[in-house]
Amino acid sequence: MTQAYWNWGLAAWMAMAPVIALVLMRISAPYGRHANAKVGPGLPPRLGWFLMELPALLTFPIVATVASGERPPLLWMLLGLWALHYGNRALIYPLRLRSKTPLPVLILALGVIFNAINGTILGLGLTRFGGVPQVAWLAHPLCWVGLAMFLGGYLLNLHADAVLRRMRRANPTGYAIPREGAFRWVSSPNYLGEMIEWFGFALVTFSLAGLAFAVWTAANLLPRALTHHQWYLRTFPDYPRDRKAVLPFLL
Ligand SMILES: NC(=O)c1ccc[n+]([C@@H]2O[C@H](COP(=O)([O-])OP(=O)(O)OC[C@H]3O[C@@H](n4cnc5c(N)ncnc54)[C@H](OP(=O)(O)O)[C@@H]3O)[C@@H](O)[C@H]2O)c1
Repeated sequence: MTQAYWNWGLAAWMAMAPVIALVLMRISAPYGRHANAKVGPGLPPRLGWFLMELPALLTFPIVATVASGERPPLLWMLLGLWALHYGNRALIYPLRLRSKTPLPVLILALGVIFNAINGTILGLGLTRFGGVPQVAWLAHPLCWVGLAMFLGGYLLNLHADAVLRRMRRANPTGYAIPREGAFRWVSSPNYLGEMIEWFGFALVTFSLAGLAFAVWTAANLLPRALTHHQWYLRTFPDYPRDRKAVLPFLL
């Protein structure tokens, strides 16, 4: 495939993301608090999350190292950032998960496809097409802005996940209003952190493939954050009215 075809393919893939986001505004992905019996059987959440996220942990590194003729030094840094996030999401997060709600097989299957496609696009996009930035990119301030966004978003996501885990442990089946940390400003700081992370990663890679991944992450998480927020407002009459869904003071 030539570079031009690749770029057009990526642009088409990215253009699909807002369409899916609009669909997800109307039909929230049926897992967790939005689960419903109509989507069919599910797996225990720990097993489900492990199986869903494992392809993400593996696909990008495998495709990037196998597809690439050469392995530029910055590729290892990008793979390190990837392993930091997906090592947690695929291995540690499921082990610590306290949810009792089964993960529907349908969601698991869609998640596996989503993760495998995105990992392949990143792997090919950063090596065969476009290329990993040169080491000199490390001296550019934008690279450091991207790294700071990645690490800041990662820590925000970890902290928000930990707050929710503590709440789930204290109350194994019910829901309460989260009040700690960034929950003071938004209903879904876990999703906010994850989006900041991947837009930061896109900046570090300075690539169309990195941007496509960030855009798809937002297409998934923005609608879910809005749905969570509406759910909180409907469920708790005393829910803080000045709290936003996902972007402090804005949305
Ligand atoms: N990159 C992506 O496209 C993508 C997509 C989805 C998720 N993720 C990431 O995966 C992680 C989990 O996502 P999620 O959609 O499962 O998040 P979530 O809906 O916020 O739920 C996270 C966990 O916290 C529990 N929980 C949530 N709100 C609670 C409350 N008010 N009271 C008590 N327990 C509560 C949930 O229990 P229940 O299961 O019982 O509801 C679940 O165990 C997040 O860090 C997210 O960023 C990433």
